[in-house]
Amino acid sequence: SILEMEVEQINKGKYEHYMQKEIHEQPESLTTTMRGRLIRSGSSKPKTVLLGGLKDHLKTIRRSRRILVIGCGTSYNAALAARPILEELSGVPVTMEIASDLVDRQGPIYREDTAVFVSQSGETADTLQALEYALENGAMCVGITNTVGSAIARNTHCGVHINAGCEIGVASTKAYTSQIVVMAMLALAIGGDTISNQARRDAIIDGLYDLPNKVREVLKLDQEMKDLAQLLVAEQSLLVFGRGYNYATSLEGALKVKEVALMHSEGILAGEMKHGPLALVDENLPIVVIATRDSCFSKQQSVIQQLNARKGRLVVMCSKGDAASVSLGGSCRVIEVPQVEDCLQPVVNIVPLQLLAYHLTVLRGFNVDQPRNLAKSVTTQ
Ligand code: AGP
Repeated sequence: SILEMEVEQINKGKYEHYMQKEIHEQPESLTTTMRGRLIRSGSSKPKTVLLGGLKDHLKTIRRSRRILVIGCGTSYNAALAARPILEELSGVPVTMEIASDLVDRQGPIYREDTAVFVSQSGETADTLQALEYALENGAMCVGITNTVGSAIARNTHCGVHINAGCEIGVASTKAYTSQIVVMAMLALAIGGDTISNQARRDAIIDGLYDLPNKVREVLKLDQEMKDLAQLLVAEQSLLVFGRGYNYATSLEGALKVKEVALMHSEGILAGEMKHGPLALVDENLPIVVIATRDSCFSKQQSVIQQLNARKGRLVVMCSKGDAASVSLGGSCRVIEVPQVEDCLQPVVNIVPLQLLAYHLTVLRGFNVDQPRNLAKSVTTQ
C-alpha cells in the first residue's frame, strides 16, 4: 500500500535501499555493539572487556578442551574472521563448523567442549538444530545473536547480544562487522589478563575504540567502488583471494556479490592458489586480492607477482600508502584502506566489498534488499 511505501521511505531515510543504509551506518552500529563493554579506566588499571552475559561462565569456557564455533552463511564467515584471535588469546583449540554440516555428520561433541553459536536472527533452522545436538551432548553452549529473545538466545546457557540494531536487508552487512567485534571481545574475555599478553590486549582494545572512525574513513571509498562496479558490471565471475585474518573477507565478499548482484563469485584461500584456482587465471577474469599489512603480507606479494606473471586482471586491496609495494610493476587497480590492528582488519576490509556488491546490484538492475529465492532468516531446512 501507499502507507507501507511511505513508512519504508521514512525508515530508509536518505538512502535508497536498506542494504545501503546498513552499510553506511556501520560506524554507529559498531559503537553500539561496544558500548559499555570496553573498560579503559585510569592509566594504572589494565584495559579490559566486560561481557555481562558471560562473566559467570568464563571459568568453564577457559577450562574447555575445545571451542567449536558454529553458524551459517555470513555468520559463519564472521566467526571464521575471528578464529585466529580466539585461538591466539584463549590458547584453546578452535574448530569451525557450518551448522548443517555438523548435523549431517553428527560430528563428535563432548561435555568438555564449548560450542559458540553465531546467528544474526537467532532463528536459523540449521543453527538451531546444531544447538539442540550440542545440548544433547552436554557441551557448554554460548549464543551470539542480534535478536533479544530469539530461539538461540533463549536456548543457550549464556551469550552476548550483538546490539547492531535491526537489520532488514537480506544481505547481512552491519551484523557481520558487529559479530566480528563481539567475537574479538569474546577472545579478550576468555583470554583474561596475563602479563605476557598485556601489550597485545591493549593494542586490540585501543583498536576497537578507534574502529568506528576507521570504518567512517573506509566508507569514503563509495564512489571508487561505484566506478569499479561500472567496470565489472557485465562480468560473469569474480574471484576474491585472501588468507590469514582475511580468508573470511574473501569468502564474505564473494558471498555478497553472488547473493545480491547475482554474479558468480568465489572466495579463495590464497595459499591454495597453486592447488587448482591458478588454472582459471587469464587476462579476462577479474580477481580481487586482499593484501593489507599483516604477517601474511609478503606471501600475498608473491601471490600478486605470480598472478601478474599470468596477466591476471587484478584489483588489489592494500593498506594506505602501499600501492607501490603491491602493484610490483604490474598494472593493477588498487583499493587503499586504513590500517588497523591485524585481527580487526577484516572489519575494515569487508566494507569496500559490501559497497562493490551493492553498486553492482543496482547497476545490474536486481532487487537489492530481497534477492530472488532468498529469505532474511532461513527457518526451514
Ligand atoms: C547473509 O548475507 C545471508 N543472507 C545468509 O548467509 C545468512 O547470514 C545466514 O542465513 C545466517 O543467518 P543468521 O545469521 O540469521 O543465522
